[in-house]
Amino acid sequence: MIYADNAATTRISDTAFAKMLPFLREQYGNASSQYSLGVKAKKAVEHARHQVAIAIGADASEIIFTSSGSEANSWVIRGIAEKFHNKPIHVITSSIEHHSVLNAFLTLERSGVEVTYITVGKNGLVEVADIKAAIKPHTRLVSIMFANNEIGTIQPIAEVGQLLKGKDILFHTDAVQAVGHIPVDVSRLGVDFLTASAHKFYGAKGTGILYKRSGIELVPLVFGGKQEHGLRAGTENVAGIVSAGCAIEESIELMANEAKRLRKMVEDTIEGIKEKIPSVRVNGDVFHRLPGTVNLCFNGISGESLMHLLDLKGICVSTSSACTAGRDNPSHVLLALGLSEQEARSAIRISYGRYNTTAEVEKVIIEICNAYFKILGNC
Ligand SMILES: Cc1ncc(COP(=O)(O)O)c(C=O)c1O
Repeated sequence: MIYADNAATTRISDTAFAKMLPFLREQYGNASSQYSLGVKAKKAVEHARHQVAIAIGADASEIIFTSSGSEANSWVIRGIAEKFHNKPIHVITSSIEHHSVLNAFLTLERSGVEVTYITVGKNGLVEVADIKAAIKPHTRLVSIMFANNEIGTIQPIAEVGQLLKGKDILFHTDAVQAVGHIPVDVSRLGVDFLTASAHKFYGAKGTGILYKRSGIELVPLVFGGKQEHGLRAGTENVAGIVSAGCAIEESIELMANEAKRLRKMVEDTIEGIKEKIPSVRVNGDVFHRLPGTVNLCFNGISGESLMHLLDLKGICVSTSSACTAGRDNPSHVLLALGLSEQEARSAIRISYGRYNTTAEVEKVIIEICNAYFKILGNC
């Protein structure tokens, strides 16, 4: 099998897997228990909190573990509505956010919150000037994703942070696709909230991360015990949290070399396919993008057919994000770039990761071209 869908999820790293295992069996204590088995679990959680904090330039007290990136995103967005209830609320986001952000805003809209969706250019990037123009006296939150999960474009987060500096507006970035893959330093971004997810950087599934800048208030979403600084109740997923700490440390260590290697793989893929299919098109900005992710349009065929044929050859790619795959609608991200429905339906996303090899890239190119001409022949 060739797994080229690392934006959907990644295989856990061997080190992270080995580190988390004892916390599922020998050291299975509840991190809130007072005896030594519990204290050991608590220590492991706090060590992971430090590892995550160091990786993103935060203080450990600013890191909260959740069950997923989706939970962390929903929490921040729903929290704003609670914080400012009885006051007019306006929020700004982009039209290409992940559905955990868009659907949370949709829910707020239904309860009377005013939401401005900033459109993106053909390159998939937001313009800081558009955000500036959208700000109103009652704007409470700006939420712009760090890197897009479908096309891989990287937004000018530090510039948005600069724009919001000194204003009484909270700033959140969904950095689920960025953390562990490109440098992310909260101390330089001007963000109040940042979200990440361990399974996107070779940790286990089921552990999300919320960075909440010190001094910023956020009402709890989940009630119960006093876990996670008293803000997020629920027995900690100790094993998952340990995997997150280990995986993030490892990803930072490997980042520079990996980025170079993955960028070359993506370039080779585009060139290789273009040689046989000159009409293939890259969606989104070619410079401001994640190293391993590329989204391609194959005009005249359906991306879904292409994905299924590749699956028969043991190659995993996707037509959109894993969360929207299987739905009938074309990608909201590609439509936002100005693509027609037909063009949007012709796209696939390839996302390489740590375990992909150059030989696999060769095979991906060959099989994509074979499948394309096979589908075209049957049209
Ligand atoms: C940009 C982005 N945000 C949020 C999420 C949700 O993260 P999780 O799978 O941990 O809920 C994803 C997952 O695909 C994502 O790509």
